[in-house]
Amino acid sequence: MSSSAGGRLFILLLLYFLCSSVAYDPMDPDGNITIKWDFMTSNDNHYTVLVSIYNYQLYRHIEIPGWRLGWTWPNDEVIWDMRGAESTNQGDCSRFKGDALPHCCDKSPTIIDLPIGAPYNLRTADCCRSGVLSSLAQGPSLIRASFQMVIDSRNITDDANPKPYNFTLGVPGYSCSNATTVAPSKFKSDTQRTTQAQSTWEVICSYSQFRESATPSCCVSLSTFYDNTIVSCPDCSCGCQGTPTSPLCLRDDEQSRLKELSSDGDGSQGPLLCTKHMCPISVHWHVKVSYKEYWRVKMTITNYNMNKNYSDWNLVLQHPNLRSLVQIFSFNYHPLLQYGSINDTGVFWGIEYYNDMLLNYGENGNVQSEMLLHKDTEEFTFKGGWPFPRRLSFNGHDCVMPPPDLYPSLPKDYSMASSPLVYDVTVFLSSILLSVVLVLL
Ligand SMILES: *[C@@H]1O[C@H](CO)[C@@H](O)[C@H](O)[C@H]1NC(C)=O
Ligand SMILES: *[C@@H]1O[C@H](CO)[C@@H](O)[C@H](O)[C@H]1NC(C)=O
Ligand SMILES: *[C@@H]1O[C@H](CO)[C@@H](O)[C@H](O)[C@H]1NC(C)=O
Ligand SMILES: *[C@@H]1O[C@H](CO)[C@@H](O)[C@H](O)[C@H]1NC(C)=O
Ligand SMILES: *[C@@H]1O[C@H](CO)[C@@H](O)[C@H](O)[C@H]1NC(C)=O
Ligand SMILES: *[C@@H]1O[C@H](CO)[C@@H](O)[C@H](O)[C@H]1NC(C)=O
Repeated sequence: MSSSAGGRLFILLLLYFLCSSVAYDPMDPDGNITIKWDFMTSNDNHYTVLVSIYNYQLYRHIEIPGWRLGWTWPNDEVIWDMRGAESTNQGDCSRFKGDALPHCCDKSPTIIDLPIGAPYNLRTADCCRSGVLSSLAQGPSLIRASFQMVIDSRNITDDANPKPYNFTLGVPGYSCSNATTVAPSKFKSDTQRTTQAQSTWEVICSYSQFRESATPSCCVSLSTFYDNTIVSCPDCSCGCQGTPTSPLCLRDDEQSRLKELSSDGDGSQGPLLCTKHMCPISVHWHVKVSYKEYWRVKMTITNYNMNKNYSDWNLVLQHPNLRSLVQIFSFNYHPLLQYGSINDTGVFWGIEYYNDMLLNYGENGNVQSEMLLHKDTEEFTFKGGWPFPRRLSFNGHDCVMPPPDLYPSLPKDYSMASSPLVYDVTVFLSSILLSVVLVLL
């Protein structure tokens, strides 16, 4: 019997890995980044193209250092002018004479967004956020980036001719399709009039966690009010101290060495605090209180990076009781994937100016939240690991869970009736008060 259960588990795991390698994310099955090329006007061989990048992913966002869009031209195309972005290299424009040289003559240009303070005459609508894109759940009005370019090309919109190819997004984990011709985009120029592009191309980029990195970067620890054991993150979840592949780490009393080590700039490869799990991020899940009709969980996210802050971090949680989430304190929440009664997944993120930035370890690098859940009578139990998350991911990276046989267990003499019943109403009211205070902060 146990061997057949093991076999089933193995097949499930195998399926999961197979699915993962073809970029399927069960928490966001339709997620993709869509790039549109809208040909707006043409004049002889000059085409004005509006390029837009849409992040149609529920919770994955594009962080600093941002997207770096690349492709390869099929012929000797050049970019004469660019607004809302720029190419990193001008390339070899020596075949052109005169005062005005093209913006870019590279066979394979790399285009990056402009910074927030870019001059007005170089801007377009939806440009200039240093390549950062929000997600559908966290910031639906900030999922689009766009730039406009004037290109010189022979017959580029003629479908018989080759299109640019080898599109890349410049963000780890993504791969992009070739361009295909789709129905021309329509634009609302005002409330009464709609205009449309002369023709439109589409490129679809999709994400795979395994393409990005096979090494996890987050782990989960567990505790409860009914058991004294704290189940820590599994050892070596993200690497083992002292092995060649593990990241550099410092002990708590070595923080003064940070300055001499952190000369490499963006902090992405900077040292971690030395821990047994060696993960840059851990999530602690504490089952805190049981009331008659509700139960309360505290979540703490800790950053072990010595010099990396996470702006706009997010946490995706799968738990069967999420559909009865009554209240969440000091985080934002949005349910994901609501198929009928299967409403067990949601994304949490920080409150702007309060805890949307997860600071590095030396600067009190943690954020915390509590949530109040209703005990759905037919399902709720503290037994068999039910109160623990089924799946957690930080910034779209799955967190390593402790093995289920180590989960805290319910003491034999524990009875639901021994929980503090009378608290229900007062706790509920005071928690509403607390969340109002937090929002005002
Ligand atoms: C990409 O995402 C959009 C928006 O969710 C969706 O309409 C489209 O079908 C997706 N395309 C692919 C190829 O997944
Ligand atoms: C553009 O394509 C048309 C038909 O495909 C062809 O007759 C014409 O010569 C082409 N022009 C250039 C500049 O290649
Ligand atoms: C496609 O891009 C990759 C990475 O930029 C490059 O190594 C490869 O040579 C390119 N392929 C072609 C056919 O240009
Ligand atoms: C994409 O286009 C290039 C050049 O046209 C071609 O060599 C390649 O096979 C295409 N890739 C796919 C997946 O269709
Ligand atoms: C992290 O944020 C703190 C506080 O805003 C700032 O002082 C520090 O320079 C930031 N560190 C990095 C590596 O960005
Ligand atoms: C899903 O659960 C959330 C609370 O977690 C609730 O706000 C939402 O209405 C639920 N949706 C459905 C379709 O039940």
